[in-house]
Amino acid sequence: MRIGIDRFGLAIPDLYVDLREVALRRGDEPDKYTIGIGQDEQAVAPSSQDIVTLGAAAVMEFRGDIDDDRLGLLVVGTESGVDSSKASALYIHRLLGLPESVRCLEIKEACYGGTAALMMARDYVAAHPDKQALVIAADIARYGLATSGEVTQGAAAVAMLVSAAPRVLDIHDDSIVRSEDIQDFWRPLYTDCALTRGKYSTLKYIEFFDDVWDRYREAHGCGLDRFAALCFHLPFSKMGLKALRSVLPQAGEEQQRKLLERYQASTRYCRRIGNAYTGSLYLGILSLLENDDTLRAGDELGIFSYGSGAVGEFFTVSLAEGYAGNLDRDGHLARLAHRRKLSVDEYEAVFSDKIPYSAKDYRTDEKYHAGPFVLTDVTGQERHYAAR
Ligand code: HMG
Repeated sequence: MRIGIDRFGLAIPDLYVDLREVALRRGDEPDKYTIGIGQDEQAVAPSSQDIVTLGAAAVMEFRGDIDDDRLGLLVVGTESGVDSSKASALYIHRLLGLPESVRCLEIKEACYGGTAALMMARDYVAAHPDKQALVIAADIARYGLATSGEVTQGAAAVAMLVSAAPRVLDIHDDSIVRSEDIQDFWRPLYTDCALTRGKYSTLKYIEFFDDVWDRYREAHGCGLDRFAALCFHLPFSKMGLKALRSVLPQAGEEQQRKLLERYQASTRYCRRIGNAYTGSLYLGILSLLENDDTLRAGDELGIFSYGSGAVGEFFTVSLAEGYAGNLDRDGHLARLAHRRKLSVDEYEAVFSDKIPYSAKDYRTDEKYHAGPFVLTDVTGQERHYAAR
């Protein structure tokens, strides 16, 4: 049975900051950000846009394709959860008006959470072939103003409808996984900014990729030539490139050129949005499918998912017949183009206006309300969301 992604949806904050301007404010060379790290712009999420509002907005792109009688599972993969107990999936479930018969939950393992959710959805459909499952990979990546991680912040949600006979891509049951308890990146419970051993994290990312790829090619007796493209978790666009370069010598010259070219297509959205943590890999896949018109139905993609802490997984997918007709390239490019640019001062103010880690009531700034759903306030320690 073919199982995979039937529809993709994307939500991004409608605010962004130009990273060249941030570089100049921090006393850094703009080229370090745009070439050394490989990021041009960064999505800025005001406090009224969290993983609930972005996640629900991403699903709205294909709400009409969800069959309420067939939907059995809604899983949110995130490390930006809005409550220590209640799953963000339940807020989203209400905002979308989904039936009570749907199982709702949230999964966490840093940037790997979206892949964990997708694999759970795949297994669910394998066990219940008539059902649909909804996966949302959503995060707000925050390191703090003037930190070395600042240039790798960002925010987005990618929603995926998983079913049998998918119209976009088939997910193959061939994963190779590595899990190991390491301290490369983490976020203590009392803060919304991540801590990281930056250089160490980049080395572990490459080490995990090389390991799962080596074990994959040994297990499946294949080489890089089998793949039309490789897609990577993209905390910043240079990161996946470093991993790709570590294996490129295994391919012939023409295949190297093709993999590099398609890698660039997979980073288009990331360069303008930034790290969406667990959504980043899926943002990269979407970017490739919507920005490369040389791919064909049946082409296979190798996929590397990495979540700090750390879990790495390599798996493969293949493109469905007519996949391009089930994407929304023009809509996504238009949304990127119509975002509002913030000055560095405005960005710093929006970044610093956040829900306090206390029992105090809080209202979000209506000036930045955008998208189909917003968080309006936290009153009496309860979050309130509204449709616009
Ligand atoms: P840094 O110390 O600011 O940067 O940290 P750098 O000094 O290493 O410079 C970066 C690159 O820019 C270098 O190139 C420089 O040579 C180059 P490289 O050697 O890497 O190829 N450079 C220039 N290039 C052109 N013109 C110039 C110039 N100056 C310098 N003028 C770091 C960079 C990524 C470590 C930092 O931003 C950071 O800590 N980020 C957060 C951690 C991170 O993203 N880690 C990635 C792997 S872990 C992961 O992917 C999981 C994650 O998504 C979390 C999760 O799982 O939830 C993070």
